[in-house]
This record gives sequence, C-alpha cells and structure tokens, in this order.
Amino acid sequence: MRYGAQRREIVVAKKLYVKTYGCQMNVYDSARMADVLAPHGYSSTDSPEEADLVILNTCNIREKAAEKVYSELGRLNLLKQERYAEGRRMYLAVGGCVGQAEGAELLRRAPFVDLVMGPQSYHRLPDLLRRAESGGVVDTEFPSENKFDHLPEESGGRAAGSRVSAFLTIQEGCDRFCTFCVVPYTRGAEFSRPVQDVENEARRLVACGARDITLLGQNVNAYHGINSAGGSGEVSLAALLRRLADIEGLQRLRYTTSHPRDLSADLITAHGELPALMPFLHLPVQSGSNRILKAMNRQHTAEDYRSLIEKLRQARPDIALSSDFIVGFPGETEAEFKDTLELARDIDYAQAFFFKYSPRPGTPAADNDAQVPEDVKSARLAALQTILTRSQAAFNASLVGRTLPVLFERPGRHANQMLGRTPYSQWVHADMPADIGGQCADIVITEAHTNSLAGRLLTDSSQQAPTVARNMGLEEGRPA
Ligand code: 5AD
Ligand code: SF4
Repeated sequence: MRYGAQRREIVVAKKLYVKTYGCQMNVYDSARMADVLAPHGYSSTDSPEEADLVILNTCNIREKAAEKVYSELGRLNLLKQERYAEGRRMYLAVGGCVGQAEGAELLRRAPFVDLVMGPQSYHRLPDLLRRAESGGVVDTEFPSENKFDHLPEESGGRAAGSRVSAFLTIQEGCDRFCTFCVVPYTRGAEFSRPVQDVENEARRLVACGARDITLLGQNVNAYHGINSAGGSGEVSLAALLRRLADIEGLQRLRYTTSHPRDLSADLITAHGELPALMPFLHLPVQSGSNRILKAMNRQHTAEDYRSLIEKLRQARPDIALSSDFIVGFPGETEAEFKDTLELARDIDYAQAFFFKYSPRPGTPAADNDAQVPEDVKSARLAALQTILTRSQAAFNASLVGRTLPVLFERPGRHANQMLGRTPYSQWVHADMPADIGGQCADIVITEAHTNSLAGRLLTDSSQQAPTVARNMGLEEGRPA
C-alpha cells in the first residue's frame, strides 16, 4: 500500500537514556537530542537498564574525560549483550566531542557501538539510527546545513536543567585556537545563531516557566549574530543581552564561557546597566604568567586581565568572579607558576576550576618537548587549590548574615525545604512553601558550606533592603 510521497513511520514507545559529560553546552545538546527523538517514540529514562537507546554525550577536553568514555562503553556493552540474550536490541550511540574526534577509530576500538556522531549531527539522529539498524554508522562531517535550523523547538528546558533555570546555546565553535585546546577542532569554526532565533527560543523558555537563562557558547562573548528582524548588520552579546532583558517574566540572565579578549567595553557597561544580568562572571585566565599566556596564544597579558576585572568591578561593584586555571603547561617554570598563584590570590575569586595540563593530540602544545612531569603538575595543582578553595570558602562565608534575593527552583531533601539560587548561582536551602518555585524571595543567609548555603526568609521589616539595590540583585555593595 502506498501513502503518497510521505514516508510513514510506525511510532513504537521506546526509552532513551542519555549520559552527559563535560560542559553545559553538552547538557543543552542532550536535551535537544531528547527533543529530536520524542516524535519518534522515545521518552527519557534515568536507568540504562530499561533503555532501548543509550547515548553518551561525551567530552574530550582532557585525556581523563575521554578515557572515561571507553570504560563506560565497556560496562554498557555487557548490558547490551544481556539485552541481546533476552531478545531485545539496545542501541549504543556516542555523541559529543569524543565522537567527533575519534570517529571511525572509536568503532574500531569499540565495534559494538552502533553510532558515532559529532555535535553537528544531532538533528539527523532519527535517520542515523535507521541506518544503524544494519551496522555501525559514523557521522562526523560538519554539514553544510545549520543544525539549529533543523532541530525541533525545544520542550521548555525539560531536560536542560530545571524549568526555572534554563540553558540556551547561542554560539558554537571557536576561532581563538588556544594552543592547549581541542575545541576549535572538535566543535569547528565559530558560529553565532541569528538574534531572532535566540530571542524566540528565550521567549518560549520563559513561557514554559524559565526565569533564569544562561546563554551558552564555547566563546560566548564573541557572539555576533545577524539581526534578521528588519535591522541590518550584526548584534553583539551586549546588545543581545539588552534585548533579552526586556522579555517579560525573565528575571535573570547569565552567559558563559567568555574569553578576556572578547570582553568589550560595551559588555562591561551592560554589567552596570542591566539589573537582570547577574553579578557573576566566569572569565577564565588560565595562567598568571605573561610568557605562558603568550605560549597558550591567549592574546592578552596578566595586566590586561587585571585591568578588565578592575573595569568590571567599577561597572558593577558587587560582581563576583570565577575562572579556569591550567597548571603545568609545557615549559612552565616554578617562577611562572608563582605568577599564577599571585594572580589567583589578588583577584579573590568566588569560584574557580583548576586543571593539570593534559596534552591533546592534534593541538600545538601537545607536541612541545618541554612537558612538565606529572608529580610537578600535581604539586602545583595542590598549591593552587589551597588558595582557590580558601577564597571560595571566604566568599561563601562573607554572605552569612546578608540578605540575598533567592530564586527558588525545586524541593530540597527535607520536608518543607526548597532549593533556590543566589545571584551568584550558589544553591541555598530554606524552609519555604512549595509554591515558591519560580519566584524570588529575600533570604537571610545563615550558614555557608563549601558548595551551598542555608538561609531563612527575611521577616523583620527593619532589615528590609533598599528597593533599588534589591532590584540590582543584591542588597548592598560588593561582598567583603
Ligand atoms: N588540559 C587541561 N585543561 C584544559 N582545558 C582546556 N584544554 C585543556 C587541556 N588540554 C581547561 C581550560 C578551559 C576549561 C574548559 O578546560 O581551563 O578553560
Ligand atoms: Fe578553547 Fe576557549 Fe581557547 Fe576557544 S577560547 S580555544 S574554547 S580555551
């Protein structure tokens, strides 16, 4: 029987399990993969045991992250064989940056995998799965079409974070070519989504309950989306933020990850002018040594970075900062490492991530003969960690006794407890009614832990913070 030109698919209910590694962009992509597969009968499950399709959305940024994928694949193969013995087929797919980087090599090392794909292929998932029915498929081409034009509308952040806070990818790829980094190879050239697409998606997320949106990109402040809404030319991240800040119901905006070289004066000004733009910025510096920064091709000096921080603090005195650091980059001397320690101490970060340099095949620094021995890297990591964890603890402790606007998201572990986020993204738990979800309340912080805070609702009107400052996201100036 023919049904005209259209191919009809019998939709059978199936279960999808996606395991996400690495950055928030992968979290966003995993949710979009679920959106692509939903019309084909797939609903999400938290247990691989009941899945008909398992997707590992992988990260290749450091060697350890990539190796984890192979050990997970070994475990999943056992499950796949068990399913096979029961007469059921479980498909196993590898996406993300390991899929992109390894391609056919992954199928050679793990021939039981059904599908290997890169981050640009997700809109083709149904077709790729169909092809995988008759043997392993590899799809790591950078297609000429733009995947965002072919992905279905997102389902309101169902999987990409909670409904109250949502991720929105606005930019992908990177043209900066830091000499340690695989991203320009795995994610390809920098691409910005058109402004109207971003705005439409933000409006849909808000309609579905999102109140706090984080704009994502590998180098998000290099954003330069075309202005398709009647205007002409390109729109910067600062202009995009101004536009999104006008969306009714959207209370908070954030963006990550930024490169210091792309932090324009206009963007710094936006930090001072937009109450919705939260006073928290992840601005990786990687190293405090000018020679190492040059060898990393970061295209700025430590002084440039310090001056940016100064300007940000002038524009938004309550801004708190976060950074990434790499220790043991090839050729890094003890004195150069000390420069990193000094910078870390001086900036007084609210949060930081620190890594031992990991040589990535195909990147310039991996071929450098002056690799730093593992034990030296470990010792440097420990020294840096001491400083950074101390400043994170001091930042959290400085909030105790202060009143912060907390945006509540979901129930906590205990009865009557709700979890919400501060303007600095820390989780706070407080005894609150369950219907506070999606709303902001003034919370007095009572306890600080390493990764979270505790608080109670501000009830004493004498402690009420001035309205203007509360609208700015905080009740007073920069944390001590
Ligand atoms: N080795 C160690 N850390 C790395 N990063 C990126 N590439 C490497 C590498 N080869 C870190 C950087 C970056 C963060 C996402 O991961 O600090 O900002
Ligand atoms: Fe990698 Fe970021 Fe450098 Fe781009 S700017 S190459 S993503 S570290």
